[in-house]
Amino acid sequence: MKLDWIIRRARNAVASKGGWRAAVRFLFSHPRSVGGLLRDDQRQNWYYDIGNDDEAAAFAAQVTASDIDRARTFILELRNHQAFYTQLSERLLQTRFRPHGRLPVGRRLSWYAIIRLVQPEICVETGVHDGLGSAVILQALEDNFRLHGKAGQLISIDRPSSDLPADFPAQPGWLVPPTLRHRYDLRLGDARQLLPAIATEYSIGFFIHDSDHSPQHERFEIETVWPAMKPGGIVMTDNGPEVLRQFARQENTSFFTFREQVLKHTYPGASNSATVKPASAPNGLS
Ligand SMILES: C[S@@+](CC[C@H](N)C(=O)[O-])C[C@H]1O[C@@H](n2cnc3c(N)ncnc32)[C@H](O)[C@@H]1O
Repeated sequence: MKLDWIIRRARNAVASKGGWRAAVRFLFSHPRSVGGLLRDDQRQNWYYDIGNDDEAAAFAAQVTASDIDRARTFILELRNHQAFYTQLSERLLQTRFRPHGRLPVGRRLSWYAIIRLVQPEICVETGVHDGLGSAVILQALEDNFRLHGKAGQLISIDRPSSDLPADFPAQPGWLVPPTLRHRYDLRLGDARQLLPAIATEYSIGFFIHDSDHSPQHERFEIETVWPAMKPGGIVMTDNGPEVLRQFARQENTSFFTFREQVLKHTYPGASNSATVKPASAPNGLS
């Protein structure tokens, strides 16, 4: 192992634990985990495909109140997007810590279909990691612009460095191809600090939570962006449905959920859920 690799990996591990103090505390309580921490470069995200595209399409159609055939078209559009996958494969060649070849987008198919269906201007994402979700969203925005002249922007938040490839100085979002970066506003820091300002500044059409999945943090993010959501704006979570389900019940808004069917991976799978900001709040308040 080269020294610079070890240093970079250690820095990533420290950042992913939330700083030196937290990392030292972690090592004292898990003394055998040093090797694992350095070796395992993909602790926060897994890449696998899903086998239920039709359910992903049904979910996208319900969330956007669209025809299911249109949603299916967009799922297929991403499945067959050769240029997109080629660009991702080229980025992957930079590292030996990720699979090479065609990276499966999995449940992010539904993110793509939703953005193609509603054509939001401002999208916000928390939790970037390598940037596969960012790349999918940016490709959808690019296709919205190419086909309908509808310009959009993605603002994404992640911490400075966490669980990223260690064979080059990777930042969150390193996987996003250069051709998609002109719509990308990547902000490095904690969502607790950065999200409130974004919610003050922008009127948001699409929000996806995929950062710290503790119920407190998920709720914080949803409550922070909710007042900033445009009428018809979509709030999604890439986490178990309970926090968003409760929130939707409290706000008396619609709630949709979809469980992915994982192919060829030990990870049991996750849910994607969504609620939609009504044109005017049901109780008459805004
Ligand atoms: C599951 S990964 C995101 C995966 C990504 N959305 C995708 O589609 O591949 C979770 C990410 O959330 C980030 N994260 C966790 N807590 C965070 C916080 N409080 N603020 C910002 N980012 C956070 C981690 O650094 C990690 O990169």
